[in-house]
Amino acid sequence: MSFSKFLTASVLLAAAPQVVYGQAKTSVSGVAQTSLYWDCCKASCSWADHGFFVGNPINTCDINGTRLTNWNLGTGCSDGESFACQDQIPWAVNETFSYGFVGAFIDGYGERTWCCGCYEIEFTDGPVKGKKMVVQASNSNYDGNGNSQFNFGIPGGYDYSGACAKQFGPSEINTKDNDGVLRRDQCDLLPDTLKPGCQWRFDWFKDAQRPNITWKRTACPKALTDISGCIRSDEQQFITKAETNDTLATPSSAVPIVGSISAFYTFAFAAALSAIVAF
Ligand SMILES: *[C@@H]1O[C@H](CO)[C@@H](O)[C@H](O)[C@H]1NC(C)=O
Ligand SMILES: *[C@@H]1O[C@H](CO)[C@@H](O)[C@H](O)[C@H]1NC(C)=O
Ligand SMILES: *[C@@H]1O[C@H](CO)[C@@H](O)[C@H](O)[C@H]1NC(C)=O
Ligand SMILES: *[C@@H]1O[C@H](CO)[C@@H](O)[C@H](O)[C@H]1NC(C)=O
Repeated sequence: MSFSKFLTASVLLAAAPQVVYGQAKTSVSGVAQTSLYWDCCKASCSWADHGFFVGNPINTCDINGTRLTNWNLGTGCSDGESFACQDQIPWAVNETFSYGFVGAFIDGYGERTWCCGCYEIEFTDGPVKGKKMVVQASNSNYDGNGNSQFNFGIPGGYDYSGACAKQFGPSEINTKDNDGVLRRDQCDLLPDTLKPGCQWRFDWFKDAQRPNITWKRTACPKALTDISGCIRSDEQQFITKAETNDTLATPSSAVPIVGSISAFYTFAFAAALSAIVAF
């Protein structure tokens, strides 16, 4: 085989993975848009059949904020008795790193792919550019509109008006409209349990307006699972693969809604590899 043919094969080999990242949908890394919400409703990942879990789904609480053990109760957003727990709020570890919970949507996948998964995210624009978080998907958010989207669970965020009024009684915030809190001092209108998460938005998060992010699945830290009570059944498999293989595998439970483009490029990659091995 000539040197030029070898070069061609090498270039193909080098180019193939880039094509995969550019076009294929993956459930382990990508870019996403963001927003924020706090609707007080039972989170979607608090239903046992909305994901694959080692034990319980995401902790859910009664109207007084006490953790429930019955995951079959309906959401407080309709006639049910199950509400979001008030400890699933964001907090800063230092100036550049925070933990939190999100309503996730990974384009091309369903919620069984992300419920209780943890993601390392980095902000790519806005006043928080360069800052990082590790978040756990506690909820699902289907208004992504063709993009992956992570909505931060921030008390006082949009959608505060409905079930929150039922849970905490009428206030200037939760009876007005769907805007929620607009200024830091309005966090004082929230119950004490929710104030720190609301203030985090104006302090660490700098009240960023829908900053974009890059994200990749990561091992769930105990700091988050101690609060959520939820671990995915593919967590250990994911960690093992991540430790031994730079090419993170899509979890076996991840079911793409659309046909996989990556299968084709994996084939092209393998073909290029065997062309070299065959010299
Ligand atoms: C919540 O607290 C109120 C006031 O203490 C009490 O009347 C009510 O029964 C409690 N609800 C639940 C579900 O524990
Ligand atoms: C902030 O905390 C994160 C997570 O513990 C750590 O990786 C990072 O080095 C810390 N940064 C600073 C500036 O202390
Ligand atoms: C995030 O990305 C979208 C789509 O590219 C863009 O329209 C928007 O301005 C970006 N947001 C920020 C805060 O830069
Ligand atoms: C790494 O993971 C990829 C994707 O699942 C797989 O195709 C490849 O064989 C793995 N490599 C090793 C050395 O395990």
